[in-house]
Amino acid sequence: MNEITREVSESISHIVRELNYESGSAIPILQRVQERLGHVSPGMIQQISDLTGIPASELYGIVTFYSQFHLEPRGENIVRVCHGTACHLAGAERVTHAVEMATGAKDGGTSEDGRYTVERVACLGCCSLAPVVMINEEAHAKVDPDKVKSMFRQFEKKIHEAENTDEKPSEGKDHA
Ligand code: FES
Repeated sequence: MNEITREVSESISHIVRELNYESGSAIPILQRVQERLGHVSPGMIQQISDLTGIPASELYGIVTFYSQFHLEPRGENIVRVCHGTACHLAGAERVTHAVEMATGAKDGGTSEDGRYTVERVACLGCCSLAPVVMINEEAHAKVDPDKVKSMFRQFEKKIHEAENTDEKPSEGKDHA
């Protein structure tokens, strides 16, 4: 069971009160927790269960069923590597490896600095451009594993420039 901090616990109590659980379902509470705290950990699920009486197993079922919920914290930027058939044949495994090296995040995990989360996804619907990688909402076509490092360098540069002009490039949020 994950421990949760007092701040997190207070936020959850606040959300449950705010949504007046009696009149609603579990999903709005989970959505609000995901939105405010970035994920819904097992410890958070337990607290929601304690406060609402909804069985933790039911909450856990919802969180694991819907892709909008995440049991673990995610990175500031979400990198999705397509592993559909066309991308697989075009070298998605090599691309994934290169992405892991460039971001410091393991496939399916988040880098230690919290900067990137790397996920493998099914066909993104643009197979003629395989292999495809999405960094947040931006698609990168025909990705060459040897050029992945420079692709991320470019991305970081864009973020840096956007920060200096108060505009953000395609920033990732939730990917339900
Ligand atoms: S298989 Fe990757 S976009 Fe279709």
